[in-house]
Amino acid sequence: MRDAERTKLRSVCRSTAIRRRATDSWIWPWRTARLLARRCLLKEKFMLELVVRTRNGQVMHLEAESGLSVMEIIRNAGIDEMLALCGGCCSCATCHVRVDEEFESRLPSMSEDESELLNGSGHRIATSRLSCQLVLNDAMSGLRVTIAPED
Ligand code: FES
Repeated sequence: MRDAERTKLRSVCRSTAIRRRATDSWIWPWRTARLLARRCLLKEKFMLELVVRTRNGQVMHLEAESGLSVMEIIRNAGIDEMLALCGGCCSCATCHVRVDEEFESRLPSMSEDESELLNGSGHRIATSRLSCQLVLNDAMSGLRVTIAPED
């Protein structure tokens, strides 16, 4: 079984177990159990996927909520090869990623600041972006990025 399938299965099992616990237990008042179950279902429905290829070629399938930047999702997952020194202020270019061509049209347009910072990188290619400037939304779910080589 691939890592992605295993991760997805684990996620579904976890939320199903929570849902079952919330609805089956006689301790929970009916209304509270229903609210908890609905929250679990909503969370499951609105989790987005980000696929990250690290510098050593490892592919990781991450789940994240909408509204977080790609850089934040990568850091929250414990991938420490991305420095992101400025914390997302668009002033360091250490969060450089290469986006899969298939997703280019779904990304927000690049600002002048972002483009200038990327020009300073010796590893810039046509699909290069700063991951702190890419805020994940529904249209971008399944986004595939590769962490660029270090400058
Ligand atoms: S974290 Fe510094 S530019 Fe993205």
